[in-house]
Amino acid sequence: MQTIRYGGDYNPEQWPEEVWHEDVRLMREAGVNLVSLGIFNWGLIEPAPGEYDWTGLDKVVDLLHGNGIGVDLGTPTAAPPSWLRRAHPEIRLVDFEGRAMAAGSRHGVCPSHPVYSDACASIVEQLAARYGTHPAVEMWHLHNEYGWANVQCYCEVSAAHFRRWLADRYGDVDALNEAWGTAFWGLTYRDFDQVEAPAIAPPGVNPALRLDWMRFSNDAHIANYKLQRDIIARYSQAPATTNFMVPNCKDMDYFRWAEHVDVVSNNHYLIAEREEHEIELAMSADLTRAVAGGPWMIMEHSTSAVNWQPRNIAKTPGELRRNSLSHVARGADGLMFFQWRASRAGSEKFHSAMLPHGGTDTQVWRDVVALGRDLGKIAGVVGADVHADVAVLWDWESWWALELEWRPSVELEFRERVEAYYGSLWKQHVTVDFAHPEADLGRYKAVIAPSSYLLTAAAAKNLQGYVEGGGHLLVSYFSGIVDEHDAVHPGAHASVLRATLGLWVEEFHPVHEGARLALTSLAPGSASGPVGRIWSEHVRLDGAEVLAAFADGPDAGRPAITRNRVGAGTAWYAATALDDATGLRELLAEVLDTAGVERPQGLPDGLEAVRRGPLSFLINHTGQDQHVPDLRGTDALTGAAYESGVPVPAGEVVILAHS
Ligand code: GLA
Repeated sequence: MQTIRYGGDYNPEQWPEEVWHEDVRLMREAGVNLVSLGIFNWGLIEPAPGEYDWTGLDKVVDLLHGNGIGVDLGTPTAAPPSWLRRAHPEIRLVDFEGRAMAAGSRHGVCPSHPVYSDACASIVEQLAARYGTHPAVEMWHLHNEYGWANVQCYCEVSAAHFRRWLADRYGDVDALNEAWGTAFWGLTYRDFDQVEAPAIAPPGVNPALRLDWMRFSNDAHIANYKLQRDIIARYSQAPATTNFMVPNCKDMDYFRWAEHVDVVSNNHYLIAEREEHEIELAMSADLTRAVAGGPWMIMEHSTSAVNWQPRNIAKTPGELRRNSLSHVARGADGLMFFQWRASRAGSEKFHSAMLPHGGTDTQVWRDVVALGRDLGKIAGVVGADVHADVAVLWDWESWWALELEWRPSVELEFRERVEAYYGSLWKQHVTVDFAHPEADLGRYKAVIAPSSYLLTAAAAKNLQGYVEGGGHLLVSYFSGIVDEHDAVHPGAHASVLRATLGLWVEEFHPVHEGARLALTSLAPGSASGPVGRIWSEHVRLDGAEVLAAFADGPDAGRPAITRNRVGAGTAWYAATALDDATGLRELLAEVLDTAGVERPQGLPDGLEAVRRGPLSFLINHTGQDQHVPDLRGTDALTGAAYESGVPVPAGEVVILAHS
């Protein structure tokens, strides 16, 4: 990509033809150079089985092409047509409680059903044959949000598919019994045919079965993607993508997905009611970059409010711009919105758009035009990566496993801990990468493991090797507990990390809701110590030194924060939930200082500063004008020269070009 791709979902089928001409004129005015087309139009292009009507799509593709606007052509398989659903009710998705989904919406069908797959293959082949060499088609947008409304189907066809998947994975049923620990409750299977989909079954289904079911469901969607991708590849050289939902879709393992797409693209919507939601946005962008292994693109975000949250809070002045440029700063080479023109009818008529119901005399439109103009000035960033000295570990499988039934505390939540650590690093202006626990970590000065409940023996060995090689590792509680089958690692809790951390855990002591645990001071001489929440445990030392002990609670007097020196490296451990203001900032500072991680000094709170290739992005999330000392350079948008520090007005973004 030589320019930053800018645009959004375009649904011209919702409008009469004369509006299309106004659309392309306004797209040009806004600097739009790519639109996603045809994502939900299956019922229009195939009005009856095997009958095709390309009139509208042909015209729109040519119109866009004639105006220099590229097409990211959708395959419409997320919206199966009414005739297909009516003729084949057996393809309906069956949920966890055994209910078959009705029609009248999108998604809602079984990803494994051969009737659905055959219909997908046929419409995709028609599309690819017709537009595969059309010069407007720059990319293929396969399906829409795999795993959104039909993430897991519990019908008999899916169950049979699951059994085949298990037979492939385990070879013989005894291996499955061993892996799943089926001797417990006498759940032993004599044949793969005896395995059922883990639908509702009080008091709770074997967690190892649940975990493999989640892996299988992820793979079932990938299979549909690959079916489509392989058909398209016979007709077209254009790259294929599908829009991910990092990090807000728990069920899809995007590290696995990324192996199959040509371009990683992501949908991100603010959780608008959350305080400091810009931090969650930054986390999404950094995690998407990890999934992509470099630059990526935003396929959808919103210009203002969405329509599906409890209270759909509109963006504040300047927020569209801050959000967009934060994505670019963190690796996005494309910036697309849902959607181009606000719909008059249907479920999403109250969703914001690039062109709102109010038309061009609106602040949103003016912001969209200004953003398009600015993106044209920073195209030099395209393809540049973001450098980070710190990695935060992220593993979808560990997330899945941690939040199955019957854990020591309902407050053990994967994202709660990851966001606590990520948020504290963000506030300290530390740019981080995310990494899978089995990835090569050698290039990082420090690695943070906020929530690694499921840690394979291979991952534990990887962490051990990292520390022995001089790395600096910080691990939070309830990590290294189970293997890939959710079975406790042999020996004591955290035994798989015993040599790395210099400790093991004798017993868990989760605390009452709202309880606060005082710790002894981290820094000698300081009056107040850290305060923990959620978790306490009986840590048994095996080489580690104690930096802070629990001062009260079930483990009073015992280690709470420890440090273990291994070869040239160091591993820290936190046995309770620390937060930025209650000790986490100090602990992270010690880790980063020891690791020699340089942080920008003197930056105001709420000022996001990220360097990407030749540019530094300074994003002021506060309501006050800020001044960034010790920076010089040229404003990439205005050409202004800054000799001694850079002013960043309230709510504004300054992009600095380094000479
Ligand atoms: C998702 C979908 C879009 C649209 C938006 C609305 O991301 O992919 O089609 O429904 O949500 O926010």
